[in-house]
Amino acid sequence: MGCSCSSVYFISQAEPTLTLTLSRKRERGLSIMSTEPIKFRMIKLPSSSFSNNANTSEEPATMPELTKNLLGDTGLNVTRLGFGAMEIRGAPRGREVTPEQADTILNAVLDAGINYIDTSIDYGMSEEYIGRFIANRRDEYFLASKCGCAVGAPVAPAGQPSQHVFTRENVVAGVEQSLSRMKTDYMDVVQFHSSPTMETLEAEGALDALRELKEQGKVRHIGMSGTLPNLAGHVNGGAFAVLQIPYSALERTHEDWIGAAASKGIGNVIRGGVAKGEPGESGVTGRVSWDTFESAKLGELLDDGETRTSFMLRYTVSHPGMHTTIVGTLNPDHLTQNIAAVERGPLPENVYEEAKKRLAAVGQVPESAS
Ligand SMILES: NC(=O)c1ccc[n+]([C@@H]2O[C@H](COP(=O)([O-])OP(=O)(O)OC[C@H]3O[C@@H](n4cnc5c(N)ncnc54)[C@H](OP(=O)(O)O)[C@@H]3O)[C@@H](O)[C@H]2O)c1
Repeated sequence: MGCSCSSVYFISQAEPTLTLTLSRKRERGLSIMSTEPIKFRMIKLPSSSFSNNANTSEEPATMPELTKNLLGDTGLNVTRLGFGAMEIRGAPRGREVTPEQADTILNAVLDAGINYIDTSIDYGMSEEYIGRFIANRRDEYFLASKCGCAVGAPVAPAGQPSQHVFTRENVVAGVEQSLSRMKTDYMDVVQFHSSPTMETLEAEGALDALRELKEQGKVRHIGMSGTLPNLAGHVNGGAFAVLQIPYSALERTHEDWIGAAASKGIGNVIRGGVAKGEPGESGVTGRVSWDTFESAKLGELLDDGETRTSFMLRYTVSHPGMHTTIVGTLNPDHLTQNIAAVERGPLPENVYEEAKKRLAAVGQVPESAS
């Protein structure tokens, strides 16, 4: 039995199946006394198998210390800033991305200590790039993907929604494809994509299929990418350990629902936390209007030298019910800025309250969760 901080591995040479690849960081903590290639069978044991304490958290080892939150009751100790890997999907649904760009940003994310990566079957080259460039560092990150995306369907044209099919067969085919693409034998979180109703998930066995994949160890936690109106059923239905919810100062609709989910022990993954970045500064322009930022005069609340994107991100992480926000970027400088913003922490209470007051005055209000 080998122990790396909070993760425990069973290492056996009796039935060697894998050549052990060590990342640079892990090499420092483990000395190898052999010049021959060493083959191990490594099995990551769930925390429940080595702890009597159900609240024990787990996290990938040997990371720089970024701020972390427990992802609800999952026990996953996730960095408050995660990485949204949709940004590396490439054309035609996204901007052009070279393999070198994908390699650079994925490894920069891990080198910085970010430990939560979100992707999807639907995100073009994203899953394949994760498999190609960071599968060898699999123990450094929690991996979340989606299911229900139509496996084998042609890529939808840019601007049109991708097709989703919530049958048992399609869910299983999707999970198997994701595992193969990302060169892993488990995903930490798999979320139903596109916010289907509970009735849809139950009609053709989609939810049961994911539960069976969980029993097989291929999926560790079942999640939902949810939006209102169906989000109410997702929060209250008791089926999901993790919810992915869109939220920012410019999109406050789900603000109360994030709190409601957190109070039930659900892990909250926030997308849209920088509202695509300030227009003119983001590598992609013209997607989200920041007019509300101007009309609410949020610029007056910025600290000296603080960027609008940084303020936006700090507003997102000020929500007490959020656990991680999966910001996408192709730009290593933006990654550094985002880490710095999140590590500064939430906005001061008076600034946060003032921002909410100003946003409400221009019509940006949450939808009540009561
Ligand atoms: N479940 C779903 O239906 C769904 C839908 C959409 C997205 N998602 C997930 O959520 C993740 C986030 O996606 P999102 O749509 O919410 O996008 P986002 O993370 O809000 O925005 C990404 C954009 O912000 C820009 N950006 C990031 N940091 C910046 C900075 N410091 N300064 C200026 N611009 C900055 C990036 O451009 P640069 O490259 O130039 O930095 C990129 O164009 C996705 O990657 C995906 O994993 C899920």
